[in-house]
Amino acid sequence: MFRTHTCGELGLGDLNREVTLAGWVQTLRKFGSITFIDLRDRYGITQLVLDEAQNEAQANIPLGREFVIQATGTVSERSNKNLIIPTGEIEIRVKQITILNKSVTPPFTIQDETDGGEDLRMKFRFLDLRRNPIKRNIELRYAVNRAARNYLHLNQFMDIETPFLIKSTPEGARDFVVPSRMNPGQFYALPQSPQTFKQLLMVSGYDRYYQVVKCFRDEDLRADRQPEFTQIDCEMSFIEQEDILQMFEGMIRYIFKEVKGIDYTDTIEKMTWEDAMWDYGNDKPDIRFGMKISNLKSVFKRKGSAEADGFLINNAGFQVFDNAETVLAIAVPAAAAWSRKQFDELTDWVKRPQIGMQGLVNIRYNEDGSFKSSIDKFYSEDRLKAITGFVNAQKGDAILILSGKEEKTRKAISDLRLELGERMGLRKNDEFRLLWVIDFPLFEYSEEDNRWVARHHPFTAPKPDQIATMINNDPLIADATRYLRHPYADIKANAYDMVLNGNEIGGGSIRIYQRELQEKMFDALGMTREEANHKFGFLLGAFEYGAPPHGGIAFGFDRLCAILGGSESIRDFIAFPKNNSGRDVMLDAPATIDDKQLKELNISLLTSR
Ligand code: AMO
Repeated sequence: MFRTHTCGELGLGDLNREVTLAGWVQTLRKFGSITFIDLRDRYGITQLVLDEAQNEAQANIPLGREFVIQATGTVSERSNKNLIIPTGEIEIRVKQITILNKSVTPPFTIQDETDGGEDLRMKFRFLDLRRNPIKRNIELRYAVNRAARNYLHLNQFMDIETPFLIKSTPEGARDFVVPSRMNPGQFYALPQSPQTFKQLLMVSGYDRYYQVVKCFRDEDLRADRQPEFTQIDCEMSFIEQEDILQMFEGMIRYIFKEVKGIDYTDTIEKMTWEDAMWDYGNDKPDIRFGMKISNLKSVFKRKGSAEADGFLINNAGFQVFDNAETVLAIAVPAAAAWSRKQFDELTDWVKRPQIGMQGLVNIRYNEDGSFKSSIDKFYSEDRLKAITGFVNAQKGDAILILSGKEEKTRKAISDLRLELGERMGLRKNDEFRLLWVIDFPLFEYSEEDNRWVARHHPFTAPKPDQIATMINNDPLIADATRYLRHPYADIKANAYDMVLNGNEIGGGSIRIYQRELQEKMFDALGMTREEANHKFGFLLGAFEYGAPPHGGIAFGFDRLCAILGGSESIRDFIAFPKNNSGRDVMLDAPATIDDKQLKELNISLLTSR
């Protein structure tokens, strides 16, 4: 037998047993005639002791860090116990060591706290993966995968694979394309998601489908985006939105329980997209903390609310507010006592190019009930008091106010709120708050393409009562005053996102399943009938053969793992990730291919190499 035990399982119950372990030499320490070796494998670390006095031949065996060895010896009690690790009460008194393989000196130390920078660790990812923090992430990923599969299996979902070499129909992100040797001049695309296939499976009658599947999107990368990432992709037939929400709340609760041991029994709030935008300034609110946004003035009105139209702030001679499209405020708890320097620093923060605001106004509502403000030249105490009341600030709070163009200011105050939440320790990694965001707009205006595009994807159904609005409004008007105004902007989708701690971990919708409505949707997106048939003829055709009502959702598996693991960087939860330029620095990919390959593919390059 190569080994009798792993390096993570021996304890006082095994005293005097003769055992054989195999693993990597993590550290070597020599004290006089005694050498201590920390032997590591996937399961843990066990201390080996080599005593020159008792075993001279073995003690002088030439070992180094990361050598792979096999060691046989007796389990004995340690005098100097290490209670931090599970095997810390014992050690192995070694009789025989065999070197199974040598190692050159690794480029960084393979320990929890390493001296290796990100680039180096990515280049030697196979070594980085030996480190505990990364190993724990990979283990967590497997646990989430297993839990999701269990739950879906228990609920009659079937894992069905769908192809990776498909047709390019870019909507949203750019496609990665693959040339076809057998069909010169033609290309496959890698799927951005299995969306149309899972819908076809519904038409085929497989009424509960799932797949843990790679998706490929050629888009700008961020901490929570990779060019190839994994979805837990699901689809169901004969359901309404509420059925989907319940089924997948169930899945997330199951994952929390199985993976984190957490009973997430709280009701999962459903927030409309509009409320999310008004109250938090973005569509994936972090509800671990309050500090909701108050709208002191806006060119738009919040539906069904008599919100301020500027009467509290206009006409005080303060041009900045008088002339602004919007004025938004948050009340920051216990911030009235902050120093001038702290407010100045925050002002600099909102002026940074990434945020791009002109300035930050503050009103301090002191504990003694008095007010102090950067604008008290313009505003009487009574007015400051009225604003404070409107914003629901308490004594001791400070109100921070931003003004400017609607979209930019909303984004800025949302960023400011999140930054303050972070600084004030309100965004705790071990606190989890789930949320559904529902009633998204069906369309959004794309600056880049100067047209209306599907906000989720073109297969998403509108709310039934809004189909008429869609049909009766001219789809082709590009409207410069687009934000929340164009008739299209009011059409809501039967779509939903699941948000965890301010991250979109999943999104889906109820689908269109009739050819006529799907064609209307393509019309609305400015697609000609020919184009629609060329791109999606297979789906339109399938809808004529008895397509059932259906809908689904896809979870960002990497994101879900990262957040459950207390991080926002998905790279740490992927065994072999790409860097922010989309490169695999270990493989050095992408790379050029040789002329013979290009010729076979019938491709000539525009740029010389
Ligand atoms: P969507 O595009 O919203 O929906 O994707 C679903 C979820 O996948 C995650 N995600 C990503 N994760 C890492 N890197 C990326 N580049 C990336 N892009 C998206 C997000 C997101 O919520 N077919 C539809 C689903 C459906 O309608 O059923 C779809 O792909 O967590």
